[in-house]
Amino acid sequence: MIDRATVDRILDAVRIEEVIGDFVTLRKRGANYLGLCPFHQDKNPSMSVSSTKGIFKCFACGKAGNAVSFLMEHEHLTYAEALRYLAKKYHIEIVEKEETAEEIAHRMRYESLLVVTEYAQKFYSDILWNTEVGKAIGLSYFRERKFSDETIRKFGLGYATSRPLTLCDRAVKDGYKKEYLVDAGLCLEREGSGELYDRFFDRVMFPIHSISGRVIAFGGRTLKTDKSVAKYVNSPQSDIYDKSRSLYGIFQAKNSIAKEDKCILVEGYADVISMHQAGVTNVVASSGTSLTVEQIRLIKRFTDKVTIIYDGDAAGVKAALRGIDLVLEEGLSVKVVLLPPEDDPDTFAKSHNLIEIREYIEENEKDFISFKSDLLLQESERDPVRRAQVIGDIVQSVSMVADPILRNIYVEMVAEKFDQKTDSILAKVSEYRRKRRALERSRRRFEEQRPAVPIPETVAPDIPDAVDTVPAGNAGYALSDSYLAVPERELAYYLLKFGEYPLHFEADMYYGSEPTEETTVSRYIRDALSDDELVFVNDLYRTIFDRYFAFTATLPEEKYEEKQEKVIRYFTSSEDRFLAQAVFDLILENHPLTVRTYEESIPPESQALARTVPKSVLLYKLRITEQQCTSTNAEIKKAQRGGDTETLRDLVRRLQLLNKVKNRLSKELNRL
Ligand code: CTP
Ligand code: MN
Repeated sequence: MIDRATVDRILDAVRIEEVIGDFVTLRKRGANYLGLCPFHQDKNPSMSVSSTKGIFKCFACGKAGNAVSFLMEHEHLTYAEALRYLAKKYHIEIVEKEETAEEIAHRMRYESLLVVTEYAQKFYSDILWNTEVGKAIGLSYFRERKFSDETIRKFGLGYATSRPLTLCDRAVKDGYKKEYLVDAGLCLEREGSGELYDRFFDRVMFPIHSISGRVIAFGGRTLKTDKSVAKYVNSPQSDIYDKSRSLYGIFQAKNSIAKEDKCILVEGYADVISMHQAGVTNVVASSGTSLTVEQIRLIKRFTDKVTIIYDGDAAGVKAALRGIDLVLEEGLSVKVVLLPPEDDPDTFAKSHNLIEIREYIEENEKDFISFKSDLLLQESERDPVRRAQVIGDIVQSVSMVADPILRNIYVEMVAEKFDQKTDSILAKVSEYRRKRRALERSRRRFEEQRPAVPIPETVAPDIPDAVDTVPAGNAGYALSDSYLAVPERELAYYLLKFGEYPLHFEADMYYGSEPTEETTVSRYIRDALSDDELVFVNDLYRTIFDRYFAFTATLPEEKYEEKQEKVIRYFTSSEDRFLAQAVFDLILENHPLTVRTYEESIPPESQALARTVPKSVLLYKLRITEQQCTSTNAEIKKAQRGGDTETLRDLVRRLQLLNKVKNRLSKELNRL
């Protein structure tokens, strides 16, 4: 952990124009600097950098923040990584907070393992390029597979051979400790004699990089066709390599995943490399296993859209379907592309050019739920028992979809495809969700019995570089979605001013699940949003929301007015000055500062909460739906221009479904 004083020293030393200037050419314009915004396709300089305020802002795309958030966004660093970057740039020594001897030993060991692994990568690639055996076998194999020299270097590929050119001999001679070679999984110890030997030999080597580009493991492929030899030998789990948290190619792909707002998922090393070489660079591989939650969250740092490319043979596809529910549950939208039967991504990328590949993906991309429905529908056509199972299976997938609007659309779609009543599908979906929520609640209750969590600090916990973390929130709080900002702001307002107030409902005045017990404004809002797994999209309001609940969980039982006052004090005295200012603006805005009008406004407003808060929640949901309608309309226009009738039909259908959802919400709203 970096201690608070060091953080302050770093932030004091930072000159934002120098930090941004390393990535963007800035010109002085009056008191500020101006440059091309790197966060969108900027033709004229629209990003203004204020050195006195320490912030940047793009007038075209609206992105704004300070030096730390710039680095987090631009270089995809975590908060701690960005601080370390700045400390290095400004030669500030980082004082590790309360690091015990054990922690220091752990950190040094971690670094040592990375160092030997990187040494091994250089060793294998040196053999590939500079030895007879490497050139004759390894390099010619890669060239046969049509990997260009540039590609081979970019992915750091290498060759491992047997004696006399072994890693263990060379590394020990070069002074690397036996212990680290073994613990990094590169070498093994012969039982009895303790003699070292290499894990990898007679194999072409694919180094696996962490998200920040450090080599953490290897996959070694045999060139023998002999079935008794394992096709791949991979590094074992180690302190630096956790297979379930890594994705092959993520380091090389991360920038274009963010830029194209889409991640393409394939199966193997060769698939990633060939796609990359063809120019499709937003590609990663799960390395032959189904995705884990950690891998999905890694992707989610850069985009929430995943397209999975499957080989043409259908057998593998069905086996892979189940793992995808997990991706849906994490809130990503999933599409599926099936290649022609004779191809895998590797061969397809080699036999087509970039435009053809892009076109193929675009034309064959199918929404996951429709894909699964169609596939299972086909095979259960004549078998009513199987059909019932299939429906259950699909409904379960639908119930995993985090976005409530999208989920509603799928409900309508599945009902139609399987010729069922919407209500019955909806009921099944709700049942699955209820069951899962109950499970989740009991798990959480179990966790809550442990001591209360402290209020989140502004400094994200420090985690070693190679491990993925979700980035901490930005300072500066650009509004990423101004349309939703309005209702989000309103809900934040109710939280800040009345969150702890009791909420009394008259009969039939609730929306959503029936409140069986007394509730409060904040609990009501939280439950209503979590029912549909909604999370505020604007950083500012999401921060207020999260901190509100973290803070109030620590408050002792007392009168609700007093709790509410503490909430306000907590926010307005926050270290995060942007947050403090925003909260001030929010709570004062509707009320002129004279005490009398302020006091007069409280009774009616606080009495109307049972009506205003649910309304505010519904309005929020309605807005989200409307937004989807608008974007669907825009897509329809585009499809009309393009004369793409197939897509057009799908879109119009989608719009009809959205309108149904909208009507349901409006009706509910009118009832209140
Ligand atoms: N894999 C593995 N161990 C194996 C087989 C496969 O770890 N014994 C993983 C590898 O990450 C591999 C991926 O699963 O890249 C896909 O397997 P496969 O399609 O067999 O390998 P490719 O890399 O496509 O190999 P190639 O195209 O060279 O045959
Ligand atoms: Mn392959």
